[in-house]
Amino acid sequence: MELFFLIIASIVVSILINHGIRLHRKSKLPPGPVGFPIIGNLLELGPKPHEDLAKLAQKYGPLMTIQLGSNTIVVATTPDAAKEVLQRKDEACSGRLAPDALNAMKNPEAAMLWMSPANDTWRAIRKALNMYLTNQTKLETLSGLRHEVVNGVVEFIRESGRKKVDVDIGQLALAVGLNQLSNTFLSQNVTNYEEHDNIGDFKHSIETVMEMLGKFNIADIFPVLKPLDPQNIRGRAKVAYDWLDEVIEGLVSKRLKHRESKLPRFGDMLDSLLEYSQANEDKFTLVHIKALLVDLFIAGTDTASNTVTWIMTELLLNRDVLLKVREEVSQVVGKDGKIEEAKILGLTYLHAVINETMRLHTPVPLLVPHTTETEVKLGNYIVPPRTQVIINMWALARDPTFWENPTSFKPERFLTNGIDYKGQNFEFLPFGSGRRRCPGMPLGHRMVSLLVASFVYHFDWKLPHGKQEIDKKEVFGLSLQKAVPLLVTPIPLK
Ligand code: HEM
Repeated sequence: MELFFLIIASIVVSILINHGIRLHRKSKLPPGPVGFPIIGNLLELGPKPHEDLAKLAQKYGPLMTIQLGSNTIVVATTPDAAKEVLQRKDEACSGRLAPDALNAMKNPEAAMLWMSPANDTWRAIRKALNMYLTNQTKLETLSGLRHEVVNGVVEFIRESGRKKVDVDIGQLALAVGLNQLSNTFLSQNVTNYEEHDNIGDFKHSIETVMEMLGKFNIADIFPVLKPLDPQNIRGRAKVAYDWLDEVIEGLVSKRLKHRESKLPRFGDMLDSLLEYSQANEDKFTLVHIKALLVDLFIAGTDTASNTVTWIMTELLLNRDVLLKVREEVSQVVGKDGKIEEAKILGLTYLHAVINETMRLHTPVPLLVPHTTETEVKLGNYIVPPRTQVIINMWALARDPTFWENPTSFKPERFLTNGIDYKGQNFEFLPFGSGRRRCPGMPLGHRMVSLLVASFVYHFDWKLPHGKQEIDKKEVFGLSLQKAVPLLVTPIPLK
């Protein structure tokens, strides 16, 4: 009973706050659908909010406002509206509103994914990432370890092919992604390729955190409900965060001991971050390094593995494209059959296939929501501070005004249209744009290219016996996942 009254009281407080805010802002915000009291437009959004928002935008325009509980959200749905937010008003629109799930972390204030850009530590971390993560020379130095990871999975699939065992491309890509990242950061693997999804393993913990951060949480739109954690989202995130915290703590402590000895340094990202921290100890400490490692795994794993899964899905559905990619990769593979990142990064057709897949299956469909740091003029509207701003990247990448036959898979379009993923073409922003743009873009591109090139060069792929079709249904989350796993039979070629 007490709980019931608490919920009712919380909701009433939310309405009053919400109503006050709306009255205050009414005439200045972009137009949008009229919502119900308390819940706002909640009922207009289903399990695929990116599609629902695209439909609403056809009625209300390129900049529209929706209300979810006490959250006012401005949605941008055309390239020009996206440019207004991410380029012209980038500085004012680059904040974040941390979800309640983040409070499960031991030091939530150290998580750069959710920091304000006005924060000195966020700027110090972005600087460090520019030096060690976005830097192609540094990435190339560490590529050998990633090659070994991919050689390992090729061997695993070869063995599965010999034993006539089907493989789940999504699960493999996820495990490979984790190991590609962990080798770049820590010079070691953190998972293997056997089928498992146990509580208390790296893959499971990262996936749980990612799922909880992306899940619709009633406490995020009615903040007064936060102490109750009604969907147990923070509770589930805590189990995973605690596990990761302990593991990362152990790995960092081990590295600190290693650095005290006279043994040679690893020269990986952790070594670089530790050195950077010594030089910037006022704003970048060991606590930030540990939180950053978790953030990088969260941001880099699902995005890359979902992209690989969608690429393989489209290649299985479009055999002519698969054969062209194989032909292109064959031309740069050495006699030893080794595929290396440096060689495949220049492959234009493979690059076009990656672009086209990220267009059709936008990895992060609504961008990680931004918030306004100050009052800001967007187009002809005035948006107050602390308003969420969403870019519907899914809708941009399928807008028929900019894309011919937008729902068809046609990599060739990227051979001639001069459009690339780097954040300058506002109709195609898989990595975002502006100061919050993905710092993992060059590494993500290397990881995806290497794995797809290896899958296509070393194997032919068939659907398991008796299966005729591939289901392309999607599940919405922070990253757009394939709903039905892509189970395939590998046929070793080389
Ligand atoms: C195909 C792979 C990837 C895609 C499609 C992708 C996409 C994105 C997108 C759309 C954002 C949000 C940008 C915004 O809020 O404006 C983002 C942010 C971020 N990404 Fe990636 N990403 C990928 C791989 C990676 C990798 C491999 C890493 C790290 C190793 C990484 C690290 C990050 C970080 C740290 C942020 C947050 C930046 C900030 O808030 O300042 N990403 N990514």
